[in-house]
Amino acid sequence: MCGIVGYIGHREAYPVIIKGLKRLEYRGYDSAGVVLYDGTDLKLSKTKGKVSDLEARAEKEISLNGSIGIGHTRWATHGVPNDVNSHPHVSNSGNLVIVHNGIIENYEPLKKELIKRGYVFHSDTDTEVLVNLIEEVKKQDNLKLGKAVQVALNQVVGAYAIAVFDKERPNEIVAARLGSPLAIGVGKDEFFVASDASPFIEYTSNAIYLEDEEMAIIRLHKPLKIRKIKDDTLVDPYIQELQMNLEQIEKGGYDHFMLKEIYEQPSVIKDTYRGRLHANEGLIKMAGIEDNLQKFLNADRILIIACGTSWHAGLVAEYIFEEFARIPVEVEYASEFRYRNPIVRPTDVVIAISQSGETADTLAAIKLAKEQGAFVFGVCNVVGSSISRETHAGAYTHAGPEIGVASTKAFTTQITVLTLIALRLAQAKGTMNNSDFHRYLQELELIPEKVAEALETNLVAQTIAAVYKDAPNALYLGRGYNFPVALEGALKLKEISYIHAEGYPAAEMKHGPIALIDESMPVFIIAPQQEHYDKIVSNIQEIKSRSGKIIAVVTKGDTQVKALADHVIEIPATSDALSPLLTTIPLQLLSYHIAVMRECNVDQPRNLAKSVTVE
Ligand code: G6P
Repeated sequence: MCGIVGYIGHREAYPVIIKGLKRLEYRGYDSAGVVLYDGTDLKLSKTKGKVSDLEARAEKEISLNGSIGIGHTRWATHGVPNDVNSHPHVSNSGNLVIVHNGIIENYEPLKKELIKRGYVFHSDTDTEVLVNLIEEVKKQDNLKLGKAVQVALNQVVGAYAIAVFDKERPNEIVAARLGSPLAIGVGKDEFFVASDASPFIEYTSNAIYLEDEEMAIIRLHKPLKIRKIKDDTLVDPYIQELQMNLEQIEKGGYDHFMLKEIYEQPSVIKDTYRGRLHANEGLIKMAGIEDNLQKFLNADRILIIACGTSWHAGLVAEYIFEEFARIPVEVEYASEFRYRNPIVRPTDVVIAISQSGETADTLAAIKLAKEQGAFVFGVCNVVGSSISRETHAGAYTHAGPEIGVASTKAFTTQITVLTLIALRLAQAKGTMNNSDFHRYLQELELIPEKVAEALETNLVAQTIAAVYKDAPNALYLGRGYNFPVALEGALKLKEISYIHAEGYPAAEMKHGPIALIDESMPVFIIAPQQEHYDKIVSNIQEIKSRSGKIIAVVTKGDTQVKALADHVIEIPATSDALSPLLTTIPLQLLSYHIAVMRECNVDQPRNLAKSVTVE
């Protein structure tokens, strides 16, 4: 979703903003813009397209000087992606400029009122309404910028992260948040404002994460002030020292972030279980679980809420929790859950899964579950994110920054955390015998090595990708633990290569998708040696007899599927429950290579956003 970068200090603002916007490209966007104040006037440049298009344009049309400025990458909500709707937006007087992430839901009545008062609008955006509302409030009551922003935001319904400045007071930026993330980098005689810390990590590791309904008045050479938007209370700024470093967010020699992140999986899975999994001692130690063990043990059911790939990880977890810990599990799309008057009881444990920790629907679903008395546990990647703060307890996945829009390492690390939880609960409930428990711990410890081995299928995946890169459709089938992997495989293909793909439980194929099978249909089948292997072999035969092309992910040494399939990709053996951690790897690689061969923008696929902060 939209990205914000602001700067005020002793440097030239333009290079800081442009570099910062590039770091936020992973969030997904369709246009970009920047405004600077060069001591005499505002210099504004914006365009539909990429940050590189903005650079080309800005360098031609404006002077790039100024040590205050704000920039933006826009993911269209109100108004099509075009130059005019791009941010920053300027108020009618030409003094105030704003960038905004989020949606102002009541923008229409506000706009009507402003039009009555003589305001003119050039774009279709809700943001232009907000900047003029601030201007109107400021003018009416002769207010300072901070106060005007506060009064205006109290009239607004919706979600926002904003950064505003006034060219008449170019030593101040006002930032505010409700529902969309915003961080402030605190340097020496300089400040940064950004949607996350990546744009400013190379300048300072001191950051303040604004909470919902907080605003910051950032003035040069003055103490930074944070106030509650509603009641004006002053809040003590909490400055955190960030652990993230620049290398972690750069591509490290890979062509794309997605490929880098696929290859990081052996090490990040290890990071995820480090200090938690003690195979030799037969122990799992997770503070968030131990501190709340009784809540989990007394739970009548576990409700998992998530979106996208995280929802697929939740589906894998459903199989694992029910099998290991014998606790009934339901997995819900957060967006459905929050609007369907769900039954949530105080005896439910809710697990919210989110890589970014900022997904608006997941956040809203958590709030709803909390209101109804449930205990909510978060599984997030981004430390300090909104979801990690909104939940009662949680466990981080420790996957490091995930920049590619198509989620890869987040998925496998989420499954790792959820498996650890399920094993710990199984142990505490006595639903798994001791020897199985020990065996699983040992197998889980070996997963990083096996993922590394699965990554060796890269060349085979590339060869297969070359054969099917022009297919208009694809089918993904799996059974049991690998049904969610089929869904995830199909999602990876469609999101980055724009090939229509469907994931299905293999046995359900007969109730519909089988009608689609002919010699031009690639069918990706996840068929490791596991329970019901013979059933999946029958499914493969059914596809073969209808001339479908079979690409099977099999266990090393497999002969039966090999004899039937057009192509096989071999992965190491593991137990059924852990197999998604391996079977998913070649599917990620296949999608990646197909997208590269189709010349798609792998890291920033069209229309998609990394962090969906609007509902
Ligand atoms: C977007 C991303 C997906 C992600 C989903 C949920 O759609 O493009 O990769 O799976 O949001 O995001 P979350 O951060 O909550 O896991």
